[in-house]
Amino acid sequence: MLMDELRVLLTHKQIQDRVGEIAAQLDRDFAGQSVIFIGVLKGATIFLSDLARRVQLDATFDFIGVASYGKQKQSSGEVRLTKDVEQPLTGANIILVEDILDTGLTMNYLRNMLLTHQPRCLKIAALLDKACRRQIPIQADYVGFTIPDEFVVGYGMDHAERYRNLPDIRVLPPELI
Ligand code: IMP
Repeated sequence: MLMDELRVLLTHKQIQDRVGEIAAQLDRDFAGQSVIFIGVLKGATIFLSDLARRVQLDATFDFIGVASYGKQKQSSGEVRLTKDVEQPLTGANIILVEDILDTGLTMNYLRNMLLTHQPRCLKIAALLDKACRRQIPIQADYVGFTIPDEFVVGYGMDHAERYRNLPDIRVLPPELI
């Protein structure tokens, strides 16, 4: 199936508008402070780069890697660190940036791991929230859109590494998953 035949769930414009709103909220919440954006590879890279360019805060970036879904639809429940952060986090304001909060297993693991560094605060920014799929009670502090239980691709999100470069967020039909 061609990329532009996939159904659009959120247009690039809708995403940009919402990213701008979240950035404005971060500007208010962290006024006068510096923040570290930690993006979860690879899905959050596009969201992080747009969000970071919309805030007016003193900000630095870092990235963290976890074992991904690969070609499977379901999370195995096991989360493995494949790349750690590179800067000191003690006393920092961390904004953990994720593409999509699904079962919550990844975020729960990462949150607990990052809290061992004793940051000043740790907030979660998730572009998408599949709230109905949650297995672990964890919520993002900043949510772009709550979406139904559909497999989405684009704007950084993949299926078997494809589609990350789509500017819109589109739905992958179940027969293609
Ligand atoms: P969780 O640990 O189940 O919350 O999984 C979170 C991760 O699963 C996300 O960061 C994505 O990498 C991946 N994921 C979950 N749902 C989707 C989807 O609809 N499309 C692409 N990736 C997804």
